[in-house]
Amino acid sequence: MTDHVTSPEGYANLSRMAFGFATSQILYAAVRLGVPDALASGALPVEHLANSVGADPRALHRLLRALVVLGVAEEGAPGHFALGELGLPLRADHPLSMRSSVLLFGDPATWQAWGALTHGVRTGEAAFDHVHGRPLFDYLAGHPHLSEIFNTAMREGAEQIAPAVPKAYDFTGVRTVVDIGGGNGTVLAAIVAATSGAQGVLFDTAEGAAGAAGTFQRAGVSDRCSIEVGDFFDAVPEGDLLLVKGVLHDWDDDRCTTLLRGCRKSITAGGRLLVLEPVMPERLGTPEAGGVVMSDIAMLVYTGGRERGREEFRHLLAAGGFDLAEVTPPLAGSAIRILVADPA
Ligand SMILES: C[S@@+](CC[C@H](N)C(=O)[O-])C[C@H]1O[C@@H](n2cnc3c(N)ncnc32)[C@H](O)[C@@H]1O
Repeated sequence: MTDHVTSPEGYANLSRMAFGFATSQILYAAVRLGVPDALASGALPVEHLANSVGADPRALHRLLRALVVLGVAEEGAPGHFALGELGLPLRADHPLSMRSSVLLFGDPATWQAWGALTHGVRTGEAAFDHVHGRPLFDYLAGHPHLSEIFNTAMREGAEQIAPAVPKAYDFTGVRTVVDIGGGNGTVLAAIVAATSGAQGVLFDTAEGAAGAAGTFQRAGVSDRCSIEVGDFFDAVPEGDLLLVKGVLHDWDDDRCTTLLRGCRKSITAGGRLLVLEPVMPERLGTPEAGGVVMSDIAMLVYTGGRERGREEFRHLLAAGGFDLAEVTPPLAGSAIRILVADPA
């Protein structure tokens, strides 16, 4: 085999990839220090900013220069920095904030799990479990601060697609929507708000559901939504529309089958199940495939779960007692689709 000399562009690309961890930690350090929020009112001189976020001025200057190189910040007058347009979602008050997602990805606990990806690939086990000695959701139960960051990061993701859900699926006539592993309730609130006469039941662990009451209040649906706490592998509440979003990809096929069989038992006559997940395309090379493939690796790191293709979902749903009836296009520019399933 002939070794071809890599082009300078190829070498630079590969080098950027190998150094990708630095980009992630530069964003994390900026957000952790509160730099984007401190710049909410506009450009500040480094000394002033260092004072307000509690950082060493010279080191902060270096971090800000790195943010400029990444296109996230801008330098106006020498030594005066502002957020660039790309950096605005790093602020907590941005309508599409990704502040908590950056905090979650860069947190030492999740960060260390990425460091064990090789172990995950060798064994097929969740890297997180290997590093921390217990699964992610058990770990979160014992770490309330990280649990809050996790829940807010999930909210940030859910807010991007929640308004699209009642547009992509017709909920007319549905009486009780049960969102299983519904977390902060963002998607359930959007469905109930858009569906007159529907009641919502959010089902999750105590930690997972911690922000749901506030979500229902803000959305004006508290009188039509309730929260039930429990383990979705034991049993789930009854309803005519059961929903699982971003849950099946956390688990292997056996655990998913247990969960789906529980859903099958709890669906009342004429009811349906909606699964909201990214669907792995058959071919790589599209932007959608890129997102799903990266999410799939993240599942190997965090939970030992995986992303699935349409046929894999069909088989999984069949094992749980459902027929896959329909798959919608991706929602709101995301990779998430609605898989509509009928009791078999
Ligand atoms: C990846 S999050 C998805 C949250 C929400 N559905 C969303 O998409 O924003 C998975 C959810 O499953 C919940 N969960 C994990 N294990 C659970 C269990 N055994 N019983 C009930 N909920 C569980 C977590 O607390 C978390 O809220």
